[in-house]
Amino acid sequence: MDLFEYQARDMFEKHGVPVLGGIVATTPEEARAAAEKLGSAVVVVKAQVKTGGRGKAGGVKLARSPQEAADRAAEILGMDIKGHTVHRVMIAQGADIAEEYYFSVLLDRANRSYLAMASKEGGMEIEQLAVERPEALARVPVDPTVGIDAAKAAEIVATAGFDADVADQVADVLQKLWGVYQAEDATLVEVNPLVKTGDGRIVALDGKVSLDANADFRHADHAELEDKAAADPLEAKAKENDLNYVKLDGSVGVIGNGAGLVMSTLDVVALAGEKHGDVTPANFLDIGGGASAEVMAAGLDVILGDPQVKSVFVNVFGGITACDAVANGIVAALGILGDEATKPLVVRLDGNNVEEGRRILAEAAHPLVTLADTMDGGADKAAELANAS
Ligand SMILES: Nc1ncnc2c1ncn2[C@@H]1O[C@H](COP(=O)(O)OP(=O)(O)OP(=O)(O)O)[C@@H](O)[C@H]1O
Ligand SMILES: [Mg+2]
Repeated sequence: MDLFEYQARDMFEKHGVPVLGGIVATTPEEARAAAEKLGSAVVVVKAQVKTGGRGKAGGVKLARSPQEAADRAAEILGMDIKGHTVHRVMIAQGADIAEEYYFSVLLDRANRSYLAMASKEGGMEIEQLAVERPEALARVPVDPTVGIDAAKAAEIVATAGFDADVADQVADVLQKLWGVYQAEDATLVEVNPLVKTGDGRIVALDGKVSLDANADFRHADHAELEDKAAADPLEAKAKENDLNYVKLDGSVGVIGNGAGLVMSTLDVVALAGEKHGDVTPANFLDIGGGASAEVMAAGLDVILGDPQVKSVFVNVFGGITACDAVANGIVAALGILGDEATKPLVVRLDGNNVEEGRRILAEAAHPLVTLADTMDGGADKAAELANAS
């Protein structure tokens, strides 16, 4: 999950990284009040969108009074920056900038390590700098088991060639930024610009943070950072029910148990779809090992809530949870959903206790359910039904 700048700013502050005051606002009136509260002679009105290049797009503007802050906010709110509509601005204290630097630390998958990057020529042209004069951007590997300690910070500062007057302060800030990266389980912490102010202080003026969702269980407080308004409602509903769901573009809903089985089901449905009007899968949904009636109902509920879905293919391989339990789950789920279940379901069961599972479904004889013997046959039937409706 990527954070907004104002969320990164708050997180930096929590970990002792020097930042300036910043207050988020969603209306010009709130922007005026925020500028009054900050009380500095100059404030900066900054578009809060999860994309880069805000400054160049006109989304970062100076204001010399609360009224000007309200005016600039009125211009920036509603702006489109690279396809992102601006719904919020941050009113930030204006900094007296003497120099702009760049720093980031990120997950380096190719080298199974972390990578720190730093430059004393930061600011809005950093991407260009990296291409045209790569030597001006220091790249220093960071051992995940050690992190950025005093020695590593000194190495980064020396490699980037920071001037002696700021070296110690920059090194200290880099260690604090590492503190954010490690303590919050981030995969990216980027500060551009990290500035030296007129009075010689080092301050983070911008912040980009990406958090590792795999570590969410360690961070109850991260849930509230999610931009709920931007989330797909079906994905949000699936998440509430702990389902692994990814929305796709097609019309055949897919439910299976185990990520591998679901992925191959997507392939088989896409192939079968070529013979039936080129229908494709509508989603990935893995209900995991314990396919209880509740989990099956929650999964069906999510899929049937997608207006693009025309048919559903349930493809389950009974393992620890045997096919009879899955079949009971499907029957119970259809009972729970009642009239809300309106689309045809093709069910293919195999594995542990398959005979009993099929018997349960046959006996229930639900009008929406068709039984399939094989995965290919089920995919073909589901594609045919999606194409027919
Ligand atoms: N609080 C501030 N006070 C003074 N100047 C600022 C302040 N915040 C930003 N600026 C100036 O505006 C420029 C752009 O701001 P910022 O880095 O936040 O946005 P950006 O780099 O355009 O956006 P992104 O990082 O998303 O590409 C900075 O390089 C800096 O010169
Ligand atoms: Mg920036």
